[in-house]
Parts: sequence; structure tokens; C-alpha cells
Amino acid sequence: MTTKLGILISGSGTNLQSIINSIKRGSLKADIGVVISNVENAYGLIRAKKEDIPTYFVDHRKYKSRKDHEAKLIEILQDYGVDIVILAGYMRVITDYFISQYPNKILNIHPAILPSFKGVDAQKQAVEYGVKLSGATVHFVDEKVDHGPIIIQGATIVNEKDTREDLANRILKIEHRIFPQAISWLVEGRIQINGNKTYIKDKKDKNLAEISDLHPCIINPPLEEGF
Ligand code: GRF
Repeated sequence: MTTKLGILISGSGTNLQSIINSIKRGSLKADIGVVISNVENAYGLIRAKKEDIPTYFVDHRKYKSRKDHEAKLIEILQDYGVDIVILAGYMRVITDYFISQYPNKILNIHPAILPSFKGVDAQKQAVEYGVKLSGATVHFVDEKVDHGPIIIQGATIVNEKDTREDLANRILKIEHRIFPQAISWLVEGRIQINGNKTYIKDKKDKNLAEISDLHPCIINPPLEEGF
């Protein structure tokens, strides 16, 4: 049976779109069962509707507690037979209660190289801090915010003149590649979790990171000749 994804969003849904595109290309072998937003006019809902994916707006402000809101989300996810929950720009913290319903089956993307710049507006934090490199992280969700075993990270440069938007756009390009890849590894059962670490098995069961010789080094500003 094809793995069913349930995608939670709050905004524009460009990550959702990258997941849809990977499924259409045949690289990600999964179906999206349902897309749920806590924001009524999130553009991601329109993206999903265009693909005939069922959508729901579940307004967190209408529920007495976080848990009550999550109970509604879980009810919908279960109705659609969701196996894996994807937080694709979902701007709410989820509780232990939610996590306990989908142990090791919830993935989040964060627009920074964790554990740096957790929390809101990581791109702004990075620009203001003056780091020379930043990027994106896909990780399993655990009970702490922007925490949990890391699956994949991608890095890019931060220029001195970058605005928050410049950096956010550069990071998004990475997000759109690493998120579908991480989901695909999880769907294929190729992620082994060991404490806070993950190992990605290649198709012959070897550790993908150890066998890969494709490890570029990003240095910014670039080294001058002789170094
Ligand atoms: C992304 O930068 C993601 O990392 C963050 O929120 C943004 C969502 O973008 N959590 P989009 O809605 O997928 O376009």
C-alpha cells in the first residue's frame, strides 16, 4: 500500500509544492492524503486544491486548549489513513500528545542549520548574527522545539549585504530539495535512529554518508590563492 502523507501548513506552501512535484516526478513514492492549515487564507491550501488533495482549515483559536485543537487534527489525519505527518511551514508548536500518536513519524523543516537559530524567523536571526553560512535542516519532531534527530541539512552562503528575504529565498531552494529527499528515505524505511543521531542506509544497507564521496566544502568568503 502506498504511504499516505498528511501535511500541516500555515503559509505559502512552497515546500508542499516541492513534495507534490517530487511525487509527480516519481521520485517520492507516496500519496498526500490530506493538507491541513491553521490559517484560513494560507496559499498552500489553494496549491493542494489545484491537485484535488482534500484540504481542511482548522482554526486553533476556536479550541479551548492546544490538545483539543490537536485532537481534531489527529481525527482528520486518521480519517485519511495518514502514516507520516509532515510539518511544512506549520507555525505552531505541537505537544507530546500529538507526538505520541505518530512516534518517529513526524518530520519538520527548519530554515537554519540546527541547533543554531531555533525558533521564529531563523533567517533574520542568521542575518543579524552575521554568520557566513546558514541553511536548512529536516529533523524528526520530538517534545522540544526545533529539536529531534537530524536527517539532512543543506548549507548556503550568507552575504554581508543579504536582506532577510535574500537569505530566505536561497534557503528555500535548499528546503525544496532536502525535504522530499528526507521524506522519501522515511517512506522507504531507510532511516535508522540511534539516540539523537540518524543513519541513512543506502540501497545495499550501508551508511549513505560514509560511502558518499560527494562531500563538497563550502567556505565563505572564498579562500584566496595559496590557502
Ligand atoms: C520555510 O522556510 C520553512 O522552513 C519554515 O517556514 C517556511 C515555510 O515556507 N518552517 P512554505 O510555506 O513552505 O513556502
